[in-house]
Amino acid sequence: MGTNKRRVAIVGTGHRGVGTWGRDAPATCADEIELVGLSDTNPARLAVARDRLGGNLAVSTDLDRMLAEARPHTLLVCTRDDTHADIIVKALEAGIDVVSEKPMATTAADCRRILEAERRTGRKVNVAFNYRFAPTSRKIRELLAGGRIGTVTSCDFHWYLDTVHGADYFRRWHAYKRHSGSLFVHKATHHFDLLNWWIDADPVQVFAQGALRKYGANGPFRGARCKTCPHAGECEFYFDMGKSEWLESLYEAPAAEDGYVRDACVYREDIDIYDTMSATIRYANDVQVSYSLNAYLPVEGYHLAFNGTHGRLEVRMFERQAFDAPSGRDEILLLGTDRSVERITVDHGPGGHFGGDPLLHRSLFEPQAEDPAGQRAGARAGALSVLTGVAATRSAETGKAVDILPLLDSDA
Ligand SMILES: NC(=O)c1ccc[n+]([C@@H]2O[C@H](COP(=O)([O-])OP(=O)(O)OC[C@H]3O[C@@H](n4cnc5c(N)ncnc54)[C@H](O)[C@@H]3O)[C@@H](O)[C@H]2O)c1
Repeated sequence: MGTNKRRVAIVGTGHRGVGTWGRDAPATCADEIELVGLSDTNPARLAVARDRLGGNLAVSTDLDRMLAEARPHTLLVCTRDDTHADIIVKALEAGIDVVSEKPMATTAADCRRILEAERRTGRKVNVAFNYRFAPTSRKIRELLAGGRIGTVTSCDFHWYLDTVHGADYFRRWHAYKRHSGSLFVHKATHHFDLLNWWIDADPVQVFAQGALRKYGANGPFRGARCKTCPHAGECEFYFDMGKSEWLESLYEAPAAEDGYVRDACVYREDIDIYDTMSATIRYANDVQVSYSLNAYLPVEGYHLAFNGTHGRLEVRMFERQAFDAPSGRDEILLLGTDRSVERITVDHGPGGHFGGDPLLHRSLFEPQAEDPAGQRAGARAGALSVLTGVAATRSAETGKAVDILPLLDSDA
């Protein structure tokens, strides 16, 4: 017997697809959605995912076949970043709405293809910007929109990835611009989207620098992968995947199918993304942003400050570090030019990304859910954050400032 639930299917059954979308989203939104299908080009990982998730699912390595059998209303796209665009366009053309993992795409041309397909088909793309749903992010947006520091004039935003999280991008496909667009796209898409949403204007121009200073050819030695590496005992990045039954089952045996190993050497000499990045961005409302992203630090978290005509808002978000720091909550410091000081504590929520993941799921799948803070993000928001990263990468490569908005129309 049919139900009124929204039928959702997943393409890309890696860690994110199986965990956040396959396991968690249907648990959070049990009355709203029903998982009906899975697809992945790796048959062994697909089989692990099917066994993990159970249920009566249409499962196929052939996406067309899975879509035909599962008949989803919504396709959740959780594949490698550079494959998103083809899959999104295919789904829209089949009359299926899409929720895409970030980044929506990795090139300007692919962003344009998605926007065009959305207009042509009348179907809808949402981009899963879970960081918008973290309680602290929302509070910042409310304080800025409420004029608490006057008119926003500039922003410092510095994101720190430690040697646990940061290194992981250098073990896999993320390490190549052709697959991830560089971390200016893959990772900074979150940060550029937050900026666009907080500042509430389009980003206009970026000037950026990027360098690879720690990983890749900088390594003192290298091997093929951690599991077989003769330097395992001396390498600061040795990663024993066998310690995680979850990762081992998803990635070890399936690697035999396509050669995608989860613990490739972070010192591979052909790595072509940056681990040290900075950018200045100008917005349509003349806000100036100073941004940086570093991927090998002793701390994980971010430092954010907005300056305005009447004050300043500061947040130092601590996620992982070797010293004592607040956990489970953030403190926002609101400073007035009249020397007033207000400390606002925001608790993290339950679930992934400081509580952002379950709130994102509810927002996407509970049709009655209101969206007073404008947290839902569509394809244009997805495109603008990608285009900022594409423009930053281009600027780092050429040494020239790059205009962002023209990329919505052409690559010229
Ligand atoms: N929002 C977040 O915080 C967050 C966190 C992690 C990952 N992500 C995103 O989720 C996506 C998946 O990340 P992951 O860490 O699970 O990656 P992963 O490499 O572990 O999994 C990707 C899966 O996609 C499959 N695949 C690749 N190309 C395909 C194609 N053309 N058709 C079908 N399947 C294909 C691979 O076989 C693999 O199983 C990425 O886009 C990533 O940026 C988002």
